[in-house]
Amino acid sequence: MKISQIAYRVSFVSILLVMLSCSNTSINTNNITIITKVVKKYKTGIEAYTNKQENPRNIEKNGELRSVASGDWTSGFYPGALWYMYELSGDSIFKTEAQNRTEILEKEKLNSVTHDMGFKVYCSYGNGYRLTKNQTYKEVLLQSAKTLITRFNPTVGCIRSWDHHEDQWQFPVIIDNMMNLELIFWAFHETGDSTYYNIAVSHANTTMKNHFRADFSTYHVVNYDTITGNAINKQTHQGYGDETSWARGQAWGLYGYTLMYRETSDEKYLVQAEEIAAFILNHPNLPDDLIPYWDFNAPNIPDEPRDASAAAVICSALYELSTHTKNNAVFYKDMADEMLNTLSSDSYFAANDAPHHFLLEHSTGNWPSNSEIDCPIIYADYYFLEALLRKKNLELIN
Ligand code: GLY
Repeated sequence: MKISQIAYRVSFVSILLVMLSCSNTSINTNNITIITKVVKKYKTGIEAYTNKQENPRNIEKNGELRSVASGDWTSGFYPGALWYMYELSGDSIFKTEAQNRTEILEKEKLNSVTHDMGFKVYCSYGNGYRLTKNQTYKEVLLQSAKTLITRFNPTVGCIRSWDHHEDQWQFPVIIDNMMNLELIFWAFHETGDSTYYNIAVSHANTTMKNHFRADFSTYHVVNYDTITGNAINKQTHQGYGDETSWARGQAWGLYGYTLMYRETSDEKYLVQAEEIAAFILNHPNLPDDLIPYWDFNAPNIPDEPRDASAAAVICSALYELSTHTKNNAVFYKDMADEMLNTLSSDSYFAANDAPHHFLLEHSTGNWPSNSEIDCPIIYADYYFLEALLRKKNLELIN
């Protein structure tokens, strides 16, 4: 790096530190240190990602970047992460790139063959609209919500997750699908149409009834009969076994019922979220550093890969849950702080000279398919940044 580049980087970081510390004297210095680190990493990524039609998803075993077209379920996380970077730093370089990376997803608004609309469109266009009020983004979001609810089956009471494996499942619903409800609630608030609200509540109630075990751990996939509406069987797709607890599935459940309480103020969702949090945080196989193994019941613990993405989702959800709970606010906030500190440490945060531009190492995408094991994955970055923003905002008001 040339001296002039070093000077530029040093002066940029100093200006950022001054800006952040002047904007509110109570921002804690730890937050500033992490924000400075993420800004540096993501700036280098903007320059390095030359494929402007696809968004980064993960780093493959051979060290290569895997980018994905708009139809992939992860396509919205990179634009979403850039929107969060813009929100965290105020730097317009992130806004410009967030816009570019968001707008390549527009055609997904009409894609009705998957439930992943929330992940794709709400993380990208949703954050973009929240921050810019761009009316074009609003139209895309409304159309996306309209498309998503075409997958709702009133007999089952759920939105169908996948269309693949028709020989295996009649009407599969995965716990991940709770995350799409945020887009549906957004559409309800924008339009006032109670259809959206009722579909989200029906999906959440049916999932609460059929996905969860007595200890509040969740199955991954529930397969429904479309004639009777009954659950036929309960299985896994990305966990170790049908009866084990896939870490990211537990994380989606925690996040999902926390958002259900935010949107409805119905106490039963708060109870559900707190029980899921208790399952995760009290689990004997949760390591001391609070970053779960990829499955809580993986057979070779402690010699199993971790899933930093599950930790990032749990961390972000716990920050929100700390604002809703009656009795556990300090506990959830402390746990989330500890997770965020661990994720920001050298054990998980990518080194300055790492040969890639992701923030976090050590996520596991799909262990049974031998895919994305112990590598950087974009949704870990997205929820890590969301957690960081939530922490920063919580500490500003308290
Ligand atoms: N929604 C897919 C996953 O969590 O891997």
